[in-house]
Amino acid sequence: MPKGFIVAIDGTAGSGKSTTARKAAEILGFFYLDTGAMYRAITWKIIKSKIDLCDSDSLKELVAKTKIDFNKENKIRLDGKEVSEQIRRPAVDRMVSQVSVLPLVRKKMVVEQKRFAKNRNVICEGRDIGSVVFPHANLKLYLDCDLKERAKRRAKELKEKGIKVTAKEIKENFYERDYIDSTRAHSPLKKMPDAIYLDTTNLTIENEVKIVIDLIKAKFKIRKLTTKIPTPGVYRAKRDKQPKTIKK
Ligand code: DC
Repeated sequence: MPKGFIVAIDGTAGSGKSTTARKAAEILGFFYLDTGAMYRAITWKIIKSKIDLCDSDSLKELVAKTKIDFNKENKIRLDGKEVSEQIRRPAVDRMVSQVSVLPLVRKKMVVEQKRFAKNRNVICEGRDIGSVVFPHANLKLYLDCDLKERAKRRAKELKEKGIKVTAKEIKENFYERDYIDSTRAHSPLKKMPDAIYLDTTNLTIENEVKIVIDLIKAKFKIRKLTTKIPTPGVYRAKRDKQPKTIKK
């Protein structure tokens, strides 16, 4: 497989992006990049540091001193320590959208996200992936799902992990986060015109994964074809604009 194939998945909170992206990446041998986990990790650090979000000098210093990466098992690390459990806590759920609004946080995250994806086949999911992080992604998807169904699914997931949050609380949090994420000035969540819209309300995870894999496979065939036809530039510009990192 050639390297540098980027799949951008954006969408609302709890719409199935993470599970679908992770499973599809596992099956295809792609790198799975969970950008939400990165925003959650820095939020966790801000919560612990007790810094006020209005204190821009302290925030600037904290962001500059923060290192976020993924270990060999693709688990999120904050300053060298794995924080997969901490970033899923309700306190982080409540604050993450407010932190994600901050341009200085976004700037740092986007630089890192591009670095993680370099020379890899990647399925990257978040809110601004198809619009800001990888505007030339080979395939863009936008996932959405009925709010009630999203809350029901997340409540079940959390219950299995022993975390007590009601479906009502989750629903309110999803609603608030979607609102902040899609109305913020910088890199708001939106469906790009070239993204494929997928409503997951009536889909099982297995179906979602199958659809995503089928779409990726179909795109791969298009790319192979473009390298053989006599005027690839014109054809590619119309069908499949590629990022500069692609090795042919
Ligand atoms: O995908 P998630 O629900 O774990 O993301 C948590 C929050 O992080 C989300 O509410 C908004 C923010 N986020 C963002 O602003 N941009 C991204 N690319 C990914 C997440």
